[in-house]
Amino acid sequence: MNHQTSTTDNWDAVRAACLEILPEHIVAFIEQNQDLEHSEGQLIATLHMVQAHFGFLGRDKMHAVAQLAQVPLAKVTGVATFYHYFRLQPRGKHIINVCLGTACYVKGADKLSQRLMDDLGIQFGETTKDGVFSLDSTRCLGTCGLAPVVMVDDQVYGPVTPGEISIILEKYSRREKSSRL
Ligand code: FES
Repeated sequence: MNHQTSTTDNWDAVRAACLEILPEHIVAFIEQNQDLEHSEGQLIATLHMVQAHFGFLGRDKMHAVAQLAQVPLAKVTGVATFYHYFRLQPRGKHIINVCLGTACYVKGADKLSQRLMDDLGIQFGETTKDGVFSLDSTRCLGTCGLAPVVMVDDQVYGPVTPGEISIILEKYSRREKSSRL
């Protein structure tokens, strides 16, 4: 659909509001593709650009994409939540990856996962409110001999017991606190 023929009466105001949220090159990309009926592939390409620019998607950004592309917000959020690659929140300062590969799983990766979710108060794919940690999972880090393995940023820990999770988290939390002093 071309925005010239859009049913939106106040297109200029909508576009101006979206330009306050999205950079010009993304707005231009969406507009260039107005005639392509906004297939899912089109939407994915747009969301990739948004994430490359901001590091994450977010409700305001997805709303702006929906308005410019003239598609329902539910369609945009549906695509964003379906694909694991997309992040709906900013990343934490430290990224925790729990290995859920077979070797780690049989050695108790599920218990480590539960402990991390309990201690951090978040689920996989989420970031703590203070922005310090994001929790992710991964498949085989190539260090199966250390199973079960948890990686924080690029540091690998293993074998890790559920009881050691709080010690590892504390180490990074302490570092964050001291860097703020
Ligand atoms: S399965 Fe976890 S490191 Fe290989």
